[in-house]
Amino acid sequence: PPAPGDWPYPRWIAHRGAGTLAPENTLAAFALGHAHGYRMFECDVRLSADGQPFLLHDDRLERTTEGQGEAVDQRWAELARLDAGSWHSPRYAGERLPSLADVVEFCRQQECALNVELKPAPGDEARTGREVAAALTRSWTRALPPLLSSFSVAALEAAAGVAPQLPRGLLLEAFSDEGLGLARRLGCVALICEQRAWDGSTVRQARAAGLRLLAYTVNEDGDAARLLALGLDGLITDRIDHFPPCPVA
Ligand code: G3P
Ligand code: MG
Repeated sequence: PPAPGDWPYPRWIAHRGAGTLAPENTLAAFALGHAHGYRMFECDVRLSADGQPFLLHDDRLERTTEGQGEAVDQRWAELARLDAGSWHSPRYAGERLPSLADVVEFCRQQECALNVELKPAPGDEARTGREVAAALTRSWTRALPPLLSSFSVAALEAAAGVAPQLPRGLLLEAFSDEGLGLARRLGCVALICEQRAWDGSTVRQARAAGLRLLAYTVNEDGDAARLLALGLDGLITDRIDHFPPCPVA
């Protein structure tokens, strides 16, 4: 197993760019997270109908854009025109859905690390894993590679098929032996659990499997203290205005 301390990613990761302080999964959110000192960002990535990787959490457009319907049914030229900021607050009116390429460029310019969560539409798991991993292989220029993660085993498998060199993390809502086995079978470097899943026993089991341990979404002081005491490698938070990020390793 890797020695503690040689995990190259920042311990604190800004969830969806800036948590809830800016419209999630937009460049404005990344800029705000960066302004708060964050140097690693989690974001949700899926594909348009014509195969463009872009940032959006939900399958549907209504909650976080002015658009309607399933995002996977629409072409990127249409999606790229949508207002993805007004729903949050007037000052973000006109903010757009970023492409993955926009975010890669942001990370290049700002020298930041990235956690790309593969968030495929139902039925689109393999295409999403394949296309997103291929796009990152082509476009990412920083030495520290993006960390791919997903709840979708099929998406991670497809990503591993085209880009075995990109590090992978399996997302789990609850710890299980099955999940641990899946992470190993997928060649994952990390297990990223809902934060309540981590305790002394699950930490020992995951460490014994040679995995790095991350938690989402860590928003309370007591939870952060508990997880740091357990020695977690990464904490994904919405509270970028509350938790000062560690310096970039
Ligand atoms: O990647 C960790 C976390 O973002 C997973 O849940 O729903 O916020 O994407 P969700
Ligand atoms: Mg996510």
